[in-house]
Amino acid sequence: MSRIEVGILGATGMVGQQFIALLANHPWFKVAWLGASERSAGKAYRDAAAWRLSAPLAEDTARMQVNAAAPGAAPRLVFSGLDSSVASEIEAAFAQAGHVVVSNARNYRMETTVPLLIPEINGDHLALVEPQRNAKGWSGCIVTNPNCAVIVLAMALAPLRQFGLTKCMITTLQAISGAGYPGVASWDILGNIIPHIGGGEEDKVEAEPRKILGRLNGGAVEDHPVVVSATTTRVPVHNGHTGSIAVALEQKPEPDAIIDAWSSFKGEPQRLELPSAPPDPIVYLQEANRPQPALDANRDGGMTVTVGRLRPCPVLDYKFVALGHNTIRGAAGAAILNAELMHRQGRL
Ligand SMILES: NC(=O)c1ccc[n+]([C@@H]2O[C@H](COP(=O)([O-])OP(=O)(O)OC[C@H]3O[C@@H](n4cnc5c(N)ncnc54)[C@H](OP(=O)(O)O)[C@@H]3O)[C@@H](O)[C@H]2O)c1
Repeated sequence: MSRIEVGILGATGMVGQQFIALLANHPWFKVAWLGASERSAGKAYRDAAAWRLSAPLAEDTARMQVNAAAPGAAPRLVFSGLDSSVASEIEAAFAQAGHVVVSNARNYRMETTVPLLIPEINGDHLALVEPQRNAKGWSGCIVTNPNCAVIVLAMALAPLRQFGLTKCMITTLQAISGAGYPGVASWDILGNIIPHIGGGEEDKVEAEPRKILGRLNGGAVEDHPVVVSATTTRVPVHNGHTGSIAVALEQKPEPDAIIDAWSSFKGEPQRLELPSAPPDPIVYLQEANRPQPALDANRDGGMTVTVGRLRPCPVLDYKFVALGHNTIRGAAGAAILNAELMHRQGRL
């Protein structure tokens, strides 16, 4: 089977680099076009990007020329890791021109007709693409994945819906790679914790899970009723966002039932055996000192969410810790999994 050509918007950034690394040997997709700002356009990729990954940059990609972020020569399927300050206009221009934009940027996530997808949880929300095309008059479309901390939280919460999930409190400990490159100044982050992340991070963590966990009803999503309270912090960790989470569950299940719900949780990506699907999207570890970013963020290529430390909570019902790789499961890997599902649904 010949591979489907794809483009990457924001190819030079942290998320863009992760796209290139994850797509290097992808069985279905082949990177054929790179786009970034005017600062990078016209340069060879190796000169435009400050490569920050331990995976080596393939020579043929290093030599590819970076283009300005305008539709025209790009393939139909375009992944986006664009800075949110420019994503609104550029992604809309691509969708208008007939491209399928699979985006990491926050700009369109909460629009009524834009799928905010985690394929294990809400693959059916892809049906929003048709009302989106009607509403916007686009021949293409925009499909988004959640904020990098939200993916970890939503994955951990999805199997708990069956127990009457009503409330959730989360404090995140987010890696510096989540701030892009060069990101947070070393002077600010070394030996330190910053108790605030800009760009409305806490608002996203409070709002996005309700849409993701919600039900498709007609041409819109009916939000899940869970109320989330979030504090988001930046910590001196390279990769892996951790969340310290407490939940209220109306049915007061036994701890074993919760662990079973996490361990047996599977979705469409596992059923369809999509190339980027982890065999077990959620892994629960019994050890009291896990999960840890240094040991657990890369589980199954960075696509698995690792959970641990389940115990009773004297304020809500239970508390636990969850962790996921922010630029893989929380960004590029998530978008690639979205595109794989769209391909299997005949939407590309
Ligand atoms: N890092 C994460 O963990 C993470 C997780 C989930 C979602 N996201 C989201 O993904 C997006 C990218 O994040 P990142 O961490 O990769 O950021 P980043 O490292 O700062 O990269 C930003 C990218 O946007 C491009 N860009 C900036 N201004 C542009 C313009 N005027 N026209 C065209 N391209 C422009 C940059 O190109 P130049 O190099 O040419 O400037 C670069 O390729 C953001 O929207 C972010 O919120 C990030």
